[in-house]
Amino acid sequence: MTEEQPILVFKDVEKVYRGGNVAVEHVNLTIHKGDFVCLIGTSGSGKTTTMRMINRMLEPTGGEILYNGADIHKANPVELRRHIGYVIQNIGLMPHMTIYENITLVPKLLKWPEEKRREKAEELIKLVELPEDFLDRYPSELSGGQQQRIGVIRALAANQDLILMDEPFGALDPITRESLQELVKNLQEKLGKTVVFVTHDMDEALKLATQIVVMDGGHMIQNATPEELLRHPANQFVENLIGEDRLIQARADVTTVAQIMLKNPVSITPGRSLGDAIRLMRKRRVDTLLVTDDDGYLKGFIDIESLDNNYKRATSVSDIMNTRIFSVVSDTLLRDTVDRILKRGLKYVPVVNHQGQLQGIVTRAALVDMVYDTIWGDSDDETSEHHPDDAAIKENSNAAMAEKLTNPVGTKATDPDTSNDKEV
Ligand SMILES: Nc1ncnc2c1ncn2[C@@H]1O[C@H](COP(=O)(O)OP(=O)(O)OP(=O)(O)O)[C@@H](O)[C@H]1O
Ligand SMILES: [Mg+2]
Repeated sequence: MTEEQPILVFKDVEKVYRGGNVAVEHVNLTIHKGDFVCLIGTSGSGKTTTMRMINRMLEPTGGEILYNGADIHKANPVELRRHIGYVIQNIGLMPHMTIYENITLVPKLLKWPEEKRREKAEELIKLVELPEDFLDRYPSELSGGQQQRIGVIRALAANQDLILMDEPFGALDPITRESLQELVKNLQEKLGKTVVFVTHDMDEALKLATQIVVMDGGHMIQNATPEELLRHPANQFVENLIGEDRLIQARADVTTVAQIMLKNPVSITPGRSLGDAIRLMRKRRVDTLLVTDDDGYLKGFIDIESLDNNYKRATSVSDIMNTRIFSVVSDTLLRDTVDRILKRGLKYVPVVNHQGQLQGIVTRAALVDMVYDTIWGDSDDETSEHHPDDAAIKENSNAAMAEKLTNPVGTKATDPDTSNDKEV
């Protein structure tokens, strides 16, 4: 299978302005059709420079840029720009042209017949939910947000596949800004456009991008999906850019059960005797045991109470095993499980893989730690004060876990006749 050709490739691109000011260097970037790439970074980091080299408004001083596999340096710049839509910061509508003329500027350059241009303009103005008679107005007769909408659809008018947007919503109020973000994202997805979008605003980037490129001092610091960026910021600069609040918020959103679970929980197979179970409990100082078969599949649990009650009439673990056990899958996000775990009042929950094999346990203590870390950072003294019962169990070690399990599951086997439950 051949991989689809990228729409845009930067190969070690560099731009040194006259006077030796290195605006960007070593930019390597591959963009595929349908990507929404956000360039983000502080002022002067080289975002606009990087973007403007794509349509040859600026010429690189080193490296190569390929558009659909061809070196843009060999393309006719005017021709190139007709294929690449561009939305600039202050909208860039021509004040002496009507909205209609503005929208159809490039189609006119491309010599589309009047009828087709009219049709396109009417179609586009509907897309941004503005009345059709706006087509005959001049830009100054529209509000800033309305003009910005026109700026966006103008970039779509000539059916360009690639659209460049340089801080298109910078000057707008938050509400207008949000509605335009949604508009652009919807249009991009619906029409399958590729967008390169410059922004200062991390919220905007996280919301829109499929790929975020962080720039600092003319260098690409990180190139990652929004999830990846939140999960693994490349360095302190990226962390600062993301901001502590967002990192904290993102933590439960990206942390999986597997990341906080304790490995090697105390378990026993169903065929073992109750004597074995008691010895194991004593040795590991736990009052419940998870029951797994020889292949590690979780079958149920036994606790000290049912052992006590049934010791005389039962012989093996399978005789008294409670098979009604709640477990979570290891790659589930904490965000999606934490509520359920806390609501059930369990002290710990077994973690299984997709096949149902036991992987570990998540303790309530670990969850509480995570939540408190999230609120108060890593200050240990403070967090332990808030959950004194669980404070002792912090390390991900067997010893700590064994201690933890001295008083674990809150689900008591309430069914009196669980004594006959056999492994499935
Ligand atoms: N025409 C120019 N001549 C010389 N230096 C320039 C020129 N244009 C930009 N620069 C410099 O190149 C660097 C990158 O500028 P660029 O406009 O790409 O930054 P930016 O990331 O878009 O910043 P902002 O967020 O402020 O728009 C800056 O140091 C800037 O001063
Ligand atoms: Mg800029």
